[in-house]
Amino acid sequence: MTAEPHAPPPTNPCAGPAAARTGSGRAHAKVILLGEHAVVYGAPALALPVPGLSCTASAVLSAQPGHGLTAYRYRDAAGDAAASDVGSQAPKALRHLVKTLLNRSCPGEVLAVDLALDNGIPMGRGLGSSAACARATVNALDDLLQLGLCATDVFDLVQLAEGQTHGRSSGIDAWATGSTRPVLMTGGRVSAPTVGAPAWVVVADSGEIGSTKEAVALVRETFHREPARRADFLSRSATLTATALEALDSGRLELLGRQLTANHRLLFSLGLSTPALDRLVEVSLGHGALGAKLSGGGMGGCVIALAGTSQTAFRLATELTRQGARGTWTASIDERGADD
Ligand code: MEV
Repeated sequence: MTAEPHAPPPTNPCAGPAAARTGSGRAHAKVILLGEHAVVYGAPALALPVPGLSCTASAVLSAQPGHGLTAYRYRDAAGDAAASDVGSQAPKALRHLVKTLLNRSCPGEVLAVDLALDNGIPMGRGLGSSAACARATVNALDDLLQLGLCATDVFDLVQLAEGQTHGRSSGIDAWATGSTRPVLMTGGRVSAPTVGAPAWVVVADSGEIGSTKEAVALVRETFHREPARRADFLSRSATLTATALEALDSGRLELLGRQLTANHRLLFSLGLSTPALDRLVEVSLGHGALGAKLSGGGMGGCVIALAGTSQTAFRLATELTRQGARGTWTASIDERGADD
């Protein structure tokens, strides 16, 4: 006689001992190759994931009474544990996310979650750190609560958190921090560009912290004061991105590089660069980069430099560090078709 198999443990946290389970989630950094700021107004922009820089989250149902986030541990890129164990000290956007997901999983139930974030993505550098933290948190809660969220659900939740952190945002960070390949965003819709030849992008941190929220507000005020500048900026940025897409598709990396450098000048003209960023762009162009620019919100943060070979990327990273970059990372643009 064979024994009856044991019933599987309940997977619904409202119904059973999910407290024993740990949900885990991950997301990575991103850089904007072209089109930042313009994308907020519907113009096209191209983002590249930086998988070597990531944020991981783990979530458990809390043993303590409460509702929402009861305990929060945050460790930053330098390995410093910045926040205490009190959930109320977590960013408002993350607290809101946890409550939203608990309510979706178990409406009417009083459940609490302990969340730990290990964020290897420096904050305030235009690398999508806040979006990656939100995405890792959503993925961890999806895993813990067995919600079965689809890609659009995850995007909507990350975008909800981004709205609370940055105000108005295009959504490009929310997508790119979960994508394994370049992301083209046009008029709020995303697609994957074709890539005709491999390339490397060196990311160099100026060490200056820039606030995306402030940078987006600065641009909005400028456009409000001078509407003609808005039209001019958007049209120039869209042309650069369109030419860059053709160059990427056909593997013409010199042409792609020139679009990056021209985009830097355009962002500079809006007051979004700093002397440190300009210097890192000059260092890049003087040491073999095919093009270079600030990336993300600007007013601090990172510069990206395009290299045609991995050896050039390595030499660029070495030189940028020697000339003051606080950190460098390299991401590759892999040769692929849109349907690969
Ligand atoms: C930030 O990575 C890019 C910006 O265009 C803001 C946004 O798109 O939400 C500056």
